[in-house]
Amino acid sequence: MSSGRFADKVVLVTGAGSGIGRATALAFAREGADLVLCDVNEASLEEVSAATRAQGRRALARKVDVSSAAAMQSFADEVHAALSGVDVIVNNAGVAVAGGLRDTTLDDWNWVMGINVMGVVHGCHFFVPRMIERGRGGHVVNIASAAGLAGSRLLLAYATTKFAVVGFSEALREDLRRHRIGVSAICPGFIRTNINEAGRRRGRFAEPAAIERSRRLMERGASPELVAGRIMDAVEQNLGLVPVTKEAHLAYALKRVSPNLLGAIWRRLEAWQAPEL
Ligand SMILES: NC(=O)c1ccc[n+]([C@@H]2O[C@H](COP(=O)([O-])OP(=O)(O)OC[C@H]3O[C@@H](n4cnc5c(N)ncnc54)[C@H](O)[C@@H]3O)[C@@H](O)[C@H]2O)c1
Repeated sequence: MSSGRFADKVVLVTGAGSGIGRATALAFAREGADLVLCDVNEASLEEVSAATRAQGRRALARKVDVSSAAAMQSFADEVHAALSGVDVIVNNAGVAVAGGLRDTTLDDWNWVMGINVMGVVHGCHFFVPRMIERGRGGHVVNIASAAGLAGSRLLLAYATTKFAVVGFSEALREDLRRHRIGVSAICPGFIRTNINEAGRRRGRFAEPAAIERSRRLMERGASPELVAGRIMDAVEQNLGLVPVTKEAHLAYALKRVSPNLLGAIWRRLEAWQAPEL
């Protein structure tokens, strides 16, 4: 028996090796949860598993690529052979592509859609049916973005995937309501993580000046722990769409009251980010 807000719950976190996934995994462990973790980076995954165990919680961690249906199927089979199921699913693994239409290749589209969209679908497809069968309710958290609320020409493909995650989450929330399974879409603004370094940059975005500007922007971002806290609130309070950080709240509010003003503000931000474009 453990104590805490998520005592004895089992929480699955994808992309748990870094940034928001890492902070979320450790926050749930601190609140008494056991963890099921995956990432493509085995070394960072091992570090997070060790930190979880150091807190006295259990961690089942596997190297899994969320974009692969076959890999996610075997992962779910293994998890369900070891445990009766998971109580919370955090579909967090994600990557970014910076670039407009002419710079983004079809390979970039397939890569980012495969991880950011199909990775989230796979997490639900392979883990939610068991959650329903158990009949104990549960919660699905999908990590979208402020880029899933306001279109940006600097992150064309990325924004497309995050709008998809927001729409998928809204529809899934209705679908799973009768099973007492909540669904949240988390929409953070700028968060200090490795997402820039791990992502792809195209066209002028690959130039040193643009890389430096976005590094500075991310440096000023909020902490991944802030997002982890909002994720736990979303699960406890069954929140639907959850903006995190000031810019995400601004995007969410203006989208509804004045989309034109939002467009103007976003364009100013983009002009600072990529003045040469
Ligand atoms: N950092 C931000 O400003 C920000 C803002 C809004 C939303 N997000 C979203 O938050 C989520 C987490 O990103 P982060 O900022 O913590 O980035 P990060 O790069 O620090 O962490 C992402 C993790 O996902 C893992 N990963 C990547 N591809 C994977 C795959 N195919 N299968 C399994 N794991 C994979 C990486 O190895 C890494 O450990 C993403 O969905 C991202 O789009 C980030």
